[in-house]
Amino acid sequence: MCGIIGYVGSRNCRELLLEGLERLEYRGYDSAGVALPDGSGGGFTMVRSVGNLARLRDAADGTDGDATIGLGHTRWATHGRVTEENCHPHLDGSGQIAVVMNGIIENYISLRDELTREGVTFNSETDAEVLPHLIAREYDGDLAAAVRAAITKLEGHYAFVAVHTNEPDRMVGAREECPLVVGVGEGERFIASAIPAFMSETREIVSIESGEVVVIEPDATHIYNGSGPQDRASEEVDWDVDAAEKAGFETFMLKEIHEQATAIHDTMADRLHEDGSVDMAELALDDAALARIGKIQIVACGTSYHAGLVGRHLIEEWSGVPVHVEVASEYRYRTCLAGPGDLVIGITQSGETADTLAAMRVARQRGAHVVALTNIMGSQATRDADGVMYTRAGLEIGVAATKTHVAQVVALALLSLKLGRLKWHLTPEGARELASEIAALPGIVSTYLDSDAANDVADVARSYSRRPFFLYLGRHVGVPVCFEGALKLKEISYIPTEAYPAGEMKHGPIALLDEGSPVVCVATDSHVFDKVVSNIQEVKARGAQVIAVATEGNSEIEEHADAVLWAPRTSTLLSAIGAILPLQLFAYHVARDLGLNVDQPRNLAKTVTVE
Ligand code: AGP
Repeated sequence: MCGIIGYVGSRNCRELLLEGLERLEYRGYDSAGVALPDGSGGGFTMVRSVGNLARLRDAADGTDGDATIGLGHTRWATHGRVTEENCHPHLDGSGQIAVVMNGIIENYISLRDELTREGVTFNSETDAEVLPHLIAREYDGDLAAAVRAAITKLEGHYAFVAVHTNEPDRMVGAREECPLVVGVGEGERFIASAIPAFMSETREIVSIESGEVVVIEPDATHIYNGSGPQDRASEEVDWDVDAAEKAGFETFMLKEIHEQATAIHDTMADRLHEDGSVDMAELALDDAALARIGKIQIVACGTSYHAGLVGRHLIEEWSGVPVHVEVASEYRYRTCLAGPGDLVIGITQSGETADTLAAMRVARQRGAHVVALTNIMGSQATRDADGVMYTRAGLEIGVAATKTHVAQVVALALLSLKLGRLKWHLTPEGARELASEIAALPGIVSTYLDSDAANDVADVARSYSRRPFFLYLGRHVGVPVCFEGALKLKEISYIPTEAYPAGEMKHGPIALLDEGSPVVCVATDSHVFDKVVSNIQEVKARGAQVIAVATEGNSEIEEHADAVLWAPRTSTLLSAIGAILPLQLFAYHVARDLGLNVDQPRNLAKTVTVE
């Protein structure tokens, strides 16, 4: 949440900061700003604006200068409304120190009161503004020393970067939980919340750990923690710069929907073998230890939680190991009953979600083996866990998760298969058959996404896009599918939805239905198909209009539904992947028909680094 970028080097950095912010915009986009020292030893040229980066670019157009050091920020508001005064960067009273921050300073009210009593005037409602004032109070000619002193006063989780006009070749950053990474160039350094901010300029990075302070200069990176200076080698990242471009698609979300076959393929590549064996060395659990796992708990938020719900079906059915799935924000504050011999999986595509990280920590303290299922190498979740399972979906920019979700489900399918073999819950033939079903998924998904069935979803979406409410129903693995389909619709179209297990509908939600109410029913081929058809009859009897998600070739459904979104044919459990595709497209086309920005839906951010 919130994106920060800083640059120090020899190039005019205004454009570098703006481009970096554009690549961080997925982290927050309600307002943005940059600060560039005037060069005269005076203050900063500040450009801040409410709205997205295009607005900041317009505002920055009239400013010139040749600053070779500067800071930028794109905001997702936590403390203080979305106003220009609350935009970062924030300055101290003398106007010589500029700071950008991501995260929350939890004790900001007491710090603010203390500073106010000392005569400081605040110009914003943010928690972040205490930082430049605190640093100014500690400043005695050494910005790094002032930052080190200031952070001893802070409670919370944050990453920030500060510049002082007296030190024009130096920038100081600090992090407590929230991410911060340095990009190393020839005679220049970048510092940012995430690698994409400077990916087009350098692939050489230095990771900053929680609790560290970092000083960057054009030719040097100095890292400190409580025990003194730290030596840290840089690493190369092999991310694809093109991943941050739309590659001819109208939106990132549509591009990412179309990248799902590749995401699935890459996630299973070199792990899955024809004989049903699976390599997952990075779990840091050998086969004997995995075979002894007694129970599994899955913690996650949002779409990752829905992948966890699908995972429960896969793991329980294929391996017989009992699985508990819970949203991380609840799990972290309950009595945790995980312990030695249990496996806890934190699913987080970003690897940064604060609640998921906290839930994983709770489980680790209890002695469980904790694994991070994430898309981001080196993310905080991977550092906090005993082992990892990487999805290889590539960078996902659209706020609504699509390709990372299917990749998570595939990773969980691989784990289920591996456990099933180790526990002798699957026969060798059964494992081989499941391996071939999983291996077929990339082809199935890619054929579907290029098909008329996928194209036709747009027509159905357009004919329902003005409806004020949608009910989603499903059974068995169709339940998490309808949860996820409904989340996609509400996230990007702002249309209220309710998603329920179809069997529970009569216990309340049916009262919502009226003449013409649209009900999306996940009715793919399975042992519960007839049960879902009965539910379809029940809602139709109340005047509802049914949009069924059904398996290609099942013509029976056309007798019952008002419209059909066809899903590719797979086995029952893997229909969680087949059936989510038309629902992603349905949500996408409804939102586009309403003229909404699907990549940057209101109030949301791609990474939720605050609880
Ligand atoms: C997905 O469309 C959402 N934007 C959101 O629910 C997301 O899945 C959730 O915030 C969890 O993120 P994570 O996977 O990065 O932890």
